[in-house]
Amino acid sequence: MPRALAELAQSDVAAVAAIEARQHLTPWGASSFEDALRCGWHTTVLRDEVNPGLPTVVGYFVAMSAGDDEELLTLTVAPEYEGRGYGRILLETLLLEATARGAKRLFLEVRQSNQRAIHLYETAGFKMTGMRKNYYVTPADSVSGRPAGRENALLMVRVLNALKESPA
Ligand SMILES: CC(C)(COP(=O)(O)OP(=O)(O)OC[C@H]1O[C@@H](n2cnc3c(N)ncnc32)[C@H](O)[C@@H]1OP(=O)(O)O)[C@@H](O)C(=O)NCCC(=O)NCCS
Repeated sequence: MPRALAELAQSDVAAVAAIEARQHLTPWGASSFEDALRCGWHTTVLRDEVNPGLPTVVGYFVAMSAGDDEELLTLTVAPEYEGRGYGRILLETLLLEATARGAKRLFLEVRQSNQRAIHLYETAGFKMTGMRKNYYVTPADSVSGRPAGRENALLMVRVLNALKESPA
């Protein structure tokens, strides 16, 4: 079994932070992943321990509970492994875990331009529930000539367990 899902470990932090830096315009640093471990947030890493020459970490996610709800904070697949279904496996894993924990809804925010992630979320049953205008910072990029700016966030939600009315 070449690939395995596990909770994020302190020994994964450097690899995960390196992937994060390559895959996000405003990446989490190692200290954010260490905070996630300290706070007991829900973390999962998918490791590949057999393919020589490829990174050990395939992808990962971090989510946190907020009352009856959960929020997906980061979901990332290493560039070498993109487009092979691992993003969907990680997302379905979180949906199963959050449902088993009794969460009612799973929320997330995504850059409006991130069509790849939006497609993944929509086909996993997420619905757009709002927009945060100019929410994300977009740093300038001297290589492409992209100027610094800001971008809207789409707020999406997936209902997991039916919301029940509390008895009066
Ligand atoms: C978004 C991300 C997690 C997807 O991971 P992945 O392993 O490449 O995704 P999968 O291979 O499981 O593919 C998921 C779907 O995206 C589709 N997809 C792939 N490239 C796409 C593109 N350029 N545009 C739209 N959809 C695309 C796939 O076809 C698949 O849909 P399908 O099953 O209906 O065919 C990954 O690209 C990533 O880490 N991106 C950078 C970080 C990021 O944006 N994270 C999300 C922040 S909210």
